Amino acid sequence: MLTFENPAISVKGVTKIYGEQTILNDLSFDVERNKITTILGFSGAGKSTLLKHILGITQPTKGTVEVLGQDLTKLDKVGLREFRKNFGMLFQYAALFDSFTAAENVGFPLSEFTKLKPAEINEKVKDLLISVGIKEESFNRLPSELSGGMRKRVGLARALALSPHIMLYDEPTTGLDPITTKMVNNLIVDTAKNHKDREMTSVIISHDVKATMEISDYVAFLDRGKIIEYLPVEEFRNSDKELVQEFLRL
Ligand SMILES: Nc1ncnc2c1ncn2[C@@H]1O[C@H](COP(=O)(O)OP(=O)(O)OP(=O)(O)O)[C@@H](O)[C@H]1O
Ligand SMILES: [Mg+2]
Repeated sequence: MLTFENPAISVKGVTKIYGEQTILNDLSFDVERNKITTILGFSGAGKSTLLKHILGITQPTKGTVEVLGQDLTKLDKVGLREFRKNFGMLFQYAALFDSFTAAENVGFPLSEFTKLKPAEINEKVKDLLISVGIKEESFNRLPSELSGGMRKRVGLARALALSPHIMLYDEPTTGLDPITTKMVNNLIVDTAKNHKDREMTSVIISHDVKATMEISDYVAFLDRGKIIEYLPVEEFRNSDKELVQEFLRL
């Protein structure tokens, strides 16, 4: 199991119980700073639940979650809300506001969390949308008027609006065609690279083995609430865990 001296994220002995069900089982997991770390695992393994603990949306039944040195379990609601500025999150279906245009979606966190003036927000929104490859002609379109790939781009631009130090991606390419998948994966790598100077840690949840091997620095495998394998990407392929090999063969 990998541990790091000064990790961006440190999950320590986290157990999460819903009713009778133990979803995370004494799970410990460090994420190295400024790297791309992917969590693989079968459906229902607890991947999204782990991500929600990292975001501080869900509190552990037992254990602690430290992000950038801050113990999230020690923060109250207001503290958590404030702390969440450190995160950018790209949800599976981009989760844009349906009645907001692309530009309004990206502007939302800026008007909500910063004191920028409308003109400054407009300028920033424009830069963000351009940086993810959305052309001006699409700025005022509603999500329903954008393709799936464009929605992902807008979602990414919105996630990047507050210049987060940690980007979380929950199955960023599930349901996309191969070309769009490639584009989104490139975007994830570019995003990580473009922010190298100011710290950018990326955590991805994925089912996509091929993309994971191409873009990750480290790969973890989650099974029934435990990390059962965690290695640098080049070693992960040679894991001696039967379940991991089964997953890789799918
Ligand atoms: N709020 C909740 N209340 C009760 N049970 C929950 C809750 N959230 C998740 N679970 C349960 O926890 C288990 C793990 O769910 P989770 O969404 O973390 O899996 P996952 O690994 O992300 O799966 P998938 O690959 O299908 O997205 C499931 O059995 C789910 O029903
Ligand atoms: Mg999930």
